[in-house]
Amino acid sequence: MKLIKLDAIDSTNDFLKALSSQDQLENFTVVTAENQTKGKGQMGGKWESEAGKNLIMSVLVKDFLFNSEQVFNLSIVVSLAVTEVLKSLNIPDICIKWPNDILSYNKKLAGILIENTIKSDGRIVSVVGIGMNVNQTNYTDLPNASSLAVISGKSFDKEELVILIVERIKDKILLWQTSASDLWNDYFNSLFKKGVPMPFKNLNDQNFMGIIQGVSPIGKLQVLLEDDSVVEFDIKEVKMLY
Ligand code: BTN
Repeated sequence: MKLIKLDAIDSTNDFLKALSSQDQLENFTVVTAENQTKGKGQMGGKWESEAGKNLIMSVLVKDFLFNSEQVFNLSIVVSLAVTEVLKSLNIPDICIKWPNDILSYNKKLAGILIENTIKSDGRIVSVVGIGMNVNQTNYTDLPNASSLAVISGKSFDKEELVILIVERIKDKILLWQTSASDLWNDYFNSLFKKGVPMPFKNLNDQNFMGIIQGVSPIGKLQVLLEDDSVVEFDIKEVKMLY
């Protein structure tokens, strides 16, 4: 695994995306940073993280996705990899909040931002960004977030975490070739609030109640509404309120 360690950068995802335009960059090249000045979150949001304390990493994944219908597959692979690493470290009550937030005790421990570039030959190159709250302990302004240190009372070596996560992503990518449906099941079984009534907000800022039934092959959330219809939402169309 080629590891590029940076002190500060705007965004490790942007850095790795720029670097990956050189085709010779090896698969699973990783960029880490101690601090990001323009960390990016999902849906154009920001990712803020106390400097030096947390995991900020981006991994290059090539030759896994072959068309845009498959982009959610990588989200499954990465969220399961992160989930399993946390379980192996005995972090309790881990689940995945659709599409790929990692929670413990209903608080966010890690977020994933996957950015795909389609090359001129049609191949897809992905930059998988992972932000994980590791050794930060002050979350007074962020009631919905927590960290490995807060939950376990221990501190963690960030480089060891990087290695564990990348190895687990590689394992899952291999496993996907033979057992994709098992990984879909693992993903669904790990989903936060599946099968229970919960509040959502739609694009028009209207709140409604629904029950998560599943996730479609392209990653849309399938929600059973009070009128017994099942509606599919993509990430821009719905917000879970919890
Ligand atoms: C989210 O939950 O909104 C996704 C957060 C992803 C944050 C990571 S930190 C490393 C990588 N570089 C970025 O700019 N963002 C991702």
